[in-house]
Amino acid sequence: MSKEELRDLLIKEAWEGLKNSYSPYSKFPVGAAVMGADGQVYRGCNIENVSYGLTVCGERNAIFNMVVHGCKTFTALAVVTSGKGDAAPCGACRQVMGEFCENLDTPVYIGGGDGEVLETTVGGIMPYPFLKFEGVE
Ligand code: THU
Repeated sequence: MSKEELRDLLIKEAWEGLKNSYSPYSKFPVGAAVMGADGQVYRGCNIENVSYGLTVCGERNAIFNMVVHGCKTFTALAVVTSGKGDAAPCGACRQVMGEFCENLDTPVYIGGGDGEVLETTVGGIMPYPFLKFEGVE
């Protein structure tokens, strides 16, 4: 699969993930999808709570969905929102991306309702990262 095909597939999968968003408080639905190193696509969405701080973002839920299914590395990630603006990943999600990405060049695609897709990388959105120690599997 070419880089462009992977980007288009993950953006489509992220929009599918968004359909399950539970975001009645922010009304900012987010969907995400990662390509696992096992070749499977894993989706996520944001899930909010009346105790606002318990909210978990779409990106982290997609990555954790992958880990739950036995895969600990993703090779690309896409995130989309139908809310106003872009779903630029929050700091917590960037840190979790750093834990499970293949490397800092792993592509990150950020899409919005206008159809525009910003293409960056994990390293591109997380300069001077705190990463897992040498030898940690
Ligand atoms: N949110 C995400 O799921 N991902 C992002 O990239 C940004 C923010 C969620 C958290 C919350 O449910 C809502 O969007 C508004 O912050």
